[in-house]
Amino acid sequence: MSEDHCRLVLEAAADDVERLGSELWDFGATGWQEIDGEWAGVPATEGRSKIVAYFPTTAMTVLSEASWSRFGGEKVSLELIGPVDWMARYRELSAPSPLGARFFVDPREPGSLPLAEPGERSLLRIPAREAFGTGSHESTRIAVRLLETAEVEGSRVLDVGIGTGILSFVAQTLGAGSVVGFDIDPASTFAVQENGSLNSLRVPAWCGTLAALGPSASFDLIVANVRPERLHGEYPKLAAALAPQGALLLSGFLGTELDWARSIADESRLSIERSEELDEWAGWVLRRRA
Ligand SMILES: C[S@@+](CC[C@H](N)C(=O)[O-])C[C@H]1O[C@@H](n2cnc3c(N)ncnc32)[C@H](O)[C@@H]1O
Repeated sequence: MSEDHCRLVLEAAADDVERLGSELWDFGATGWQEIDGEWAGVPATEGRSKIVAYFPTTAMTVLSEASWSRFGGEKVSLELIGPVDWMARYRELSAPSPLGARFFVDPREPGSLPLAEPGERSLLRIPAREAFGTGSHESTRIAVRLLETAEVEGSRVLDVGIGTGILSFVAQTLGAGSVVGFDIDPASTFAVQENGSLNSLRVPAWCGTLAALGPSASFDLIVANVRPERLHGEYPKLAAALAPQGALLLSGFLGTELDWARSIADESRLSIERSEELDEWAGWVLRRRA
């Protein structure tokens, strides 16, 4: 659906961009982009990036009153622009591609034929819609690598921030004994169901938080591709839901956030076993201390 939008341009230290971007989603952004160089006549500044973010026009007042410096940003401009069909753009940009060592994702709508040719790989059909996760983002790709190199066969898996269900489908295809997941985004639970049907897989998912989990729940693998500030305070609870030999697979971090991962490991009484990096993103395998 096309609707009028407004465009907010912020400037921030390059290291603050991902965290600021995460705040922009909370303000209702429909999309944002980091620009390193000059943008629309505004010159590049050494060590700083521009963030160009789009919002429905209803957010204009809140955006004009927000204090961006609280989040490390500085406002460059805020202006009304015409209608933008984000979904159409997103779909146009989504192309079938390999994922990890064993998968191939076709993000096109189900009616699109001929189907992508996955060769030896397992095909996952995940149409690019509202929920996050068609496998194009580095954080998803890292999480898939962590799963492909974990002991998934027969394991009980929890998928935190399940999005489209992509990591759950990967775990199920790799032979997990059971997989369940949750997400705070209501679009996600519908997506997991629909994508499950498209792939002849079924993953139970609830809309909500970890609080819905019973105290006796136990998992061999917990995978969480979620920005760490989004799970603030939840990591010790996730660790408590791990079976004695279980592992917590974390993605959604930046490579520069190793200290953050270390403090999460400490507060959860876990040890960092190994890491996985892709471009500026990073993930870690955490396990119970002996
Ligand atoms: C980066 S996406 C990952 C989606 C998918 N698992 C993947 O790997 O592509 C993060 C997801 O976590 C969800 N999320 C954010 N905070 C959360 C929280 N506190 N509890 C559960 N889900 C959360 C978001 O709605 C989003 O769907």
